[in-house]
Amino acid sequence: MESNGHISFLCLSIIFCCLCLDSVTAIDTISSSQLIKDPETISSNNGMFTLGFFSPQNTTNRYVCIWYKTRTLVVWIGNRNQPLKDSKGSFTISEDGNLVVLNATKHVIWSTNVSNISLKSNTSAQLQDSGNLVLIEDATGKIIWKSFLHPSNVFMPNMQLITNKRTGQKVEGTSWKSPSDPSFGSFSLSLERPKIPEIFIWEGTRPHWRSGPWNGIVFTGIPTMQSVYNLNGFSVLVEGDDSVQLSFSPANSDRLVLYMLDWKGKIQEMIWKNSKSQWEVLFTVQKTDCEVYGICGAYGRCSSQAKPICNCLRGFEPRNEEEWNRKNWTSGCVRKKALQCENSKVDSKSDGFLKLEKVKVPDLADWSSARSEEKCRSQCLENCNCTAYSYEAGIGCLSWSGNLIDIQQFSSGSIDLYIRVANSELDKERGATATFTIAAITVIVTLVIIVTCAYVMWKCLGRERKKRKLLLFSCCKGSAEQTNDNIIGELSQVKLQELLLFDAEKLANATDDFNYSNKLGEGGFGPVYKGKLENGQEIAVKRLSRASGQGLEEFMNEVVLISKLQHRNLVRLLGCCREGEENMLIYEYMPNKSLDTFIFDPPEHKFLDWKNRFSIIEGTARGLLYLHRDSRLRIIHRDLKASNILLDDELNPKISDFGLARIFGGHGDEDKTRRVVGTYGYMAPEYAMGGLFSEKSDVFSFGVLLLEIVSGRRNSSFYNNEQSMSLLEFAWNMWNEDNIVSLIDQYICDPVHEKDILRCVHIGLLCVQESARDRPNMATVISMLSSEIVNLPALSQPAYILKQNMLNSLSNEESQGLFSNNSATITDIQGR
Ligand SMILES: *[C@@H]1O[C@H](CO)[C@@H](O)[C@H](O)[C@H]1NC(C)=O
Ligand SMILES: *[C@@H]1O[C@H](CO)[C@@H](O)[C@H](O)[C@H]1NC(C)=O
Ligand SMILES: *[C@@H]1O[C@H](CO)[C@@H](O)[C@H](O)[C@H]1NC(C)=O
Ligand SMILES: *[C@@H]1O[C@H](CO)[C@@H](O)[C@H](O)[C@H]1NC(C)=O
Ligand SMILES: *[C@@H]1O[C@H](CO)[C@@H](O)[C@H](O)[C@H]1NC(C)=O
Ligand SMILES: *[C@@H]1O[C@H](CO)[C@@H](O)[C@H](O)[C@H]1NC(C)=O
Ligand SMILES: *[C@@H]1O[C@H](CO)[C@@H](O)[C@H](O)[C@H]1NC(C)=O
Repeated sequence: MESNGHISFLCLSIIFCCLCLDSVTAIDTISSSQLIKDPETISSNNGMFTLGFFSPQNTTNRYVCIWYKTRTLVVWIGNRNQPLKDSKGSFTISEDGNLVVLNATKHVIWSTNVSNISLKSNTSAQLQDSGNLVLIEDATGKIIWKSFLHPSNVFMPNMQLITNKRTGQKVEGTSWKSPSDPSFGSFSLSLERPKIPEIFIWEGTRPHWRSGPWNGIVFTGIPTMQSVYNLNGFSVLVEGDDSVQLSFSPANSDRLVLYMLDWKGKIQEMIWKNSKSQWEVLFTVQKTDCEVYGICGAYGRCSSQAKPICNCLRGFEPRNEEEWNRKNWTSGCVRKKALQCENSKVDSKSDGFLKLEKVKVPDLADWSSARSEEKCRSQCLENCNCTAYSYEAGIGCLSWSGNLIDIQQFSSGSIDLYIRVANSELDKERGATATFTIAAITVIVTLVIIVTCAYVMWKCLGRERKKRKLLLFSCCKGSAEQTNDNIIGELSQVKLQELLLFDAEKLANATDDFNYSNKLGEGGFGPVYKGKLENGQEIAVKRLSRASGQGLEEFMNEVVLISKLQHRNLVRLLGCCREGEENMLIYEYMPNKSLDTFIFDPPEHKFLDWKNRFSIIEGTARGLLYLHRDSRLRIIHRDLKASNILLDDELNPKISDFGLARIFGGHGDEDKTRRVVGTYGYMAPEYAMGGLFSEKSDVFSFGVLLLEIVSGRRNSSFYNNEQSMSLLEFAWNMWNEDNIVSLIDQYICDPVHEKDILRCVHIGLLCVQESARDRPNMATVISMLSSEIVNLPALSQPAYILKQNMLNSLSNEESQGLFSNNSATITDIQGR
């Protein structure tokens, strides 16, 4: 009965689909002989976008436009500066092959204006599903013009803002003149400063608003972008010093999100609400006057919370007190005390810096390659022209010479700025601090006494407290007690009761009393066994080593994290068990074990052909993207490696082992840990050496993994080798010698796939570049893998020097331990 129903439903849908296809396919294209007259239209295949004639409100002028659904939003306009005065216009492909708009007397009033169209072939225009109108050379299928490269005032998914100083190419948006006049208005939107990319809105030739520098994840001058970013996946591609492009592709492509530059010069993020059939504004920039470029003049700082909103930086005073009082701040501020280096010209180092926290850093920064904050600071100090510096891991060292303009103060997020002032200003600061200190000391002494007492009491109760903490995670009945331990507090919201509780005895039965023959492997913190429940379901049981108290933290970490995550490329936790001294996690069973047993073991790895390997690479990338961006939390895995990628029966990859993963605290993009954990060979240099971890350190591990998959060799397999090259070094050398073939696993080395494999190696090498800033994020990696991004950026050297440095920085004993067992997870190297 039921299956009959299914079948007839299927038939119906097929017929229905055929009908719709029939009725729409024919009309997304205009070929050379066709003339589309007002009010005729053509629509994209998916019915989302329509190209036709349109009149804005309060005017009878006609414009050839692309609009979304029911004329709710015009996303592109052709003849925006050449309106048709009547309804007798038309558009067609002209004799020269261009798409043209004609007026009543068939004069061309607008053209796509491509000058070098070959007359040997006809051309046609097609409105694609993305809303992109393209002009195609029929004979070759080559796209010779597209509306996405000539935007009006709307920025849509997969469109790009481009600035290329070398070729002079600039793709920018321009506002309407008014709501009823779409001709070029006074505001334009473009991507600027190719070295340190930022979005600018210009009013004519004057800057009107800027986004703050891109730090690899967000634009730092938009504190609210964090959430926007999470939804919409912005990526910036920097190519060399003079070319940069920005695009965005929402993780959830079901909902259309776009950005519009309105006629008053504001950017609005709009989302189409299907339920209400209307657009909703999610987010606007320039809510406050503070966002107007340079409103407080040079050395002024704007804070929307302050009254008045403009203030001089510390150590500065208004240049013109009178104007300043009249709330005309544009004249800005001047130094109260000249810098020492200006006076003596000798001793540039006698000045100091005042720290300004959480700001949109000033415009016109210079970027330097200094790798640490200290280096950045001393570089600035040595150059008397340097008025400020800032160091942000995602960007690097920024410095300013000359006036500091457009500083905006935020209450959270963003970057710290250090402003150069004369030493005497610093002394004043210190003086003030001193008075304060004396007063504070009395308070502090009292506090210390209280705290000491409290600490002693807490110590005494420690054992009690620890027990309670365990209870919370014991998956028992879900009657979680409240504790005020901060992390635990936050995590206690996990609905552990939703997890299935397993009985220790049942698990013992399922695994034949944890029989050695059922052992699947050794996870980070204990053995993993295969088991079969009474109902026949196969499971994998991870049993925390009973002996070591160590690993308990990781165990809890894993329970909490993974129970919140759901993705087809992450391994699924079925439940857990804690009874007496037993702590166990129960996962879905993966018949194909882990990736390392597949790609590195000679008899097995020939079974993985290129298609399989590519889908493993892609799946892993998607799982990682989910962790970084799409899940409600931002999670850094910190221990991505081949043995932590499990394969299901269809060889779908699933990321496992979240014992070391960390949730990212809301604002930061990078965190620092004293305890460097992870697996040598997969660790990014900044993490291994400095304990800095971020999405980009996971990207590094992903790059290593990718190269391992393509080459079929372990990164570590090289260490025992005479030349002691790492896989990365080997790959880089082969890349430069144009000899990638010797890197590629012989079993997949087929000329048919050569181009794809080469592309993958390129992406892998991009991910392992030395500087975290240069590495793409996972969203970009996925776009690259899927060839949405066609031109990959140039490569810089990967971080393979790491090994030497690490050898030097570790004692002999430690390094021996490290390299004899280099596929195991390191859990206790102390970072700096
Ligand atoms: C069409 O355009 C041509 C050239 O711009 C102009 O001379 C002509 O008057 C226009 N016709 C109409 C009906 O507007
Ligand atoms: C087409 O190109 C010519 C010359 O290159 C230019 O003068 C004209 O303004 C262009 N027209 C459009 C609609 O871009
Ligand atoms: C026209 O010239 C541009 C730049 O010179 C080139 O990129 C493009 O391929 C040419 N188009 C055709 C149809 O030949
Ligand atoms: C271009 O299109 C016209 C009209 O459809 C046709 O007569 C002509 O043969 C085509 N030319 C080429 C080169 O295909
Ligand atoms: C159109 O005109 C009406 C009446 O003058 C006015 O209220 C409305 O705001 C105008 N709409 C636009 C978009 O200019
Ligand atoms: C503000 O001051 C500047 C000169 O410092 C002057 O050019 C400008 O007109 C003043 N603006 C207003 C609104 O008074
Ligand atoms: C400082 O600025 C002056 C004037 O702009 C310039 O001549 C000089 O070379 C600069 N010094 C350094 C170290 O950049």
